[in-house]
Amino acid sequence: MPTNPNAGPRILLALTGGIAAYKSAELARRFVKAGCDVQVVMTASAQRFIGAQTFQALTGKPVRASLWDEAAEAAMGHIELARWPDAIVIAPATANTLAKITHGLADDLLTTLVLATDKLIFVAPAMNRLMWANAATQANMATLRARGVRVIGPGSGEQACGEVGEGRVAEPEDVAKAVLGALARSTASPAIDGPLSGRRAVVTAGPTREPIDPVRFITNRSSGKQGYAVAAALRALGAQVTLVSGPVNLPTPAGVTRVDCETALDMLDATQAACATADLLVGTAAVADYRCVEIASQKIKKQRDTLELQLVKNADILTEVRAAQPQLFIVGFAAETERLAEHARGKLVRKKLDLIAANWVGDGRAFDRDDNQLTVYWAEGEQAIGPADKADIARQLAALIAERLLAAPRAPAAARRPARKRTP
Ligand code: C5P
Repeated sequence: MPTNPNAGPRILLALTGGIAAYKSAELARRFVKAGCDVQVVMTASAQRFIGAQTFQALTGKPVRASLWDEAAEAAMGHIELARWPDAIVIAPATANTLAKITHGLADDLLTTLVLATDKLIFVAPAMNRLMWANAATQANMATLRARGVRVIGPGSGEQACGEVGEGRVAEPEDVAKAVLGALARSTASPAIDGPLSGRRAVVTAGPTREPIDPVRFITNRSSGKQGYAVAAALRALGAQVTLVSGPVNLPTPAGVTRVDCETALDMLDATQAACATADLLVGTAAVADYRCVEIASQKIKKQRDTLELQLVKNADILTEVRAAQPQLFIVGFAAETERLAEHARGKLVRKKLDLIAANWVGDGRAFDRDDNQLTVYWAEGEQAIGPADKADIARQLAALIAERLLAAPRAPAAARRPARKRTP
């Protein structure tokens, strides 16, 4: 009988009634294999698709299926069970169960557990494409996400009903990865209660370095101070923060995961990867607009009086991420030396940003200093922040970001996920 030799995370794996329920046997197996203590809960309809015995065999624990099971309740009451896990994972999650948990119904064991828990909740929706696309489901998903429920998938492809579209449950491997990854991160940096609790933020910071030859590079004056302060401020509001940092000389803020990179291309890759599961991106980095077409393999010798470097434009990270993630809340920065409002608003529209924080640069302002002054613009408004030190600016900016993010319900992260191929 499987046990939990590694005393890993406790997972309450809940199945609702969909044909995709059979895939959750593989999911249970993966959790057990990863050392998790797994308790399965099934709704009445889930049991029509797959037998409870399968899960008992895989997890070594009887499946819980009813609020009215006296023996099970005596062993561990449903309120206690709601507090027991590190995460509740509902896979597959039907449109019906998603609607019920959105509205706080508690008419069976699963919905009661969800209402009575304060732990991380993951859902892997699975349904017909039209049910998924229905405005009611989409509104429910937006509400759930806004409350911090993590949505995994769905993917696109051929469906059990024979139609083709979005609504296929995420593959067990992907669900396991998302859940275990999030649990590992939340243990590494304990939860902070705040308006951004349960949200994942990515912050780019610092300059990039574009190599010319093995010893030289093109860079700029960015110190990374503002970005590091924004990362710390978002963390203080409860977000799980990944800081994608160019080369700077700053300590990593407490509780923040830092990914170091050097060139704009590295930063693009790291940011895309981090944003795949994020709710929010703040681009404070001063990314080089151009890189060398060719990087000399040997140090360039001082020979001619003039030297020409041919440069090619770097991709704009925010634009690329926006193209991949239409629902992500993206905040850009605009450093301007003239016509601040006009240029900043232009970038807001061009890069399809939700907010842009603009500051005057030049004449020793903003770059490599401890103080700053911003005007933040969004489609319907603007707000001046500062002058103040960068930490204070970051706190005010983070509060504004939280306010705007929570005011604008997002479509589910699932809508941002790449299509998956059908598996046999
Ligand atoms: O277009 P400009 O460089 O002025 O825009 C500044 C904003 O765009 C900043 O948020 C910066 O981090 C971001 N940016 C980017 N990728 C680039 C250049 C800038 O994400 N290649």
